[in-house]
Amino acid sequence: MKPIISISMLSADFAHLDRDLKAAEAAGVDWIHVDIMDGHFVPNITIGPNQMKDLRASVSIPFDVHLMISHPLSYIDAFVEGGADLITVHVECEDDTDACLNKIKSHGIKAGIVISPDTPVTAVEPYLDDIDMVLVMSVYPGFGGQKYLTKSSDRLKALKSMIGKRQIRLEVDGGVNFNTLSDVLAAGADTIVSGSCLYHGDIQNNINQFRAIIADICEEK
Ligand code: DX5
Ligand code: ZN
Repeated sequence: MKPIISISMLSADFAHLDRDLKAAEAAGVDWIHVDIMDGHFVPNITIGPNQMKDLRASVSIPFDVHLMISHPLSYIDAFVEGGADLITVHVECEDDTDACLNKIKSHGIKAGIVISPDTPVTAVEPYLDDIDMVLVMSVYPGFGGQKYLTKSSDRLKALKSMIGKRQIRLEVDGGVNFNTLSDVLAAGADTIVSGSCLYHGDIQNNINQFRAIIADICEEK
């Protein structure tokens, strides 16, 4: 599967989101990763669907929307209306996972499941025939700039083998930088979320370095 870089908007300058999203697109990023937090599922708050809708016009690359909210079911329609191309919901949320996936897919967009670091990977198994992506949190959700949890590499490997030949992307989110990127790729991740590393310093240089590491590891395989 073609490797994808999904830049986390959380580390952009929120006073200059239009500029920072355009810079990411110009640097060759594949997707924008939009972190939605409700102050309940996680101890932080970001933006809602209306703000996301305003940002949609800034770029034409896909919006990969990560819902860290306790009750995603009643917000899915609004996030689709806001321009989501793919929505992931946490398996730990308080709504019925199948109902969330069905609602997302009823809009004709891609659906995925996210698992937090302490949730057994087997929690994803019942949904494998119904999803387009699994997102493995490699930090505790809520904040950018945290350190990669090393146990995530084994979790990625386990999920990679559970996915088998299915056309399901394996995304990783949290603490991915120049030092940890090769590990997550070697463990089977094909969709890479990164925020603080990519938005720190020169974005084009950072993306070029990511692409070089991806080319190295993917050639070796
Ligand atoms: C954390 C978010 C991540 C975060 C990643 O809850 O889901 O997307 O922004 O940021 P970095 O790459 O800084 O760990
Ligand atoms: Zn995220």
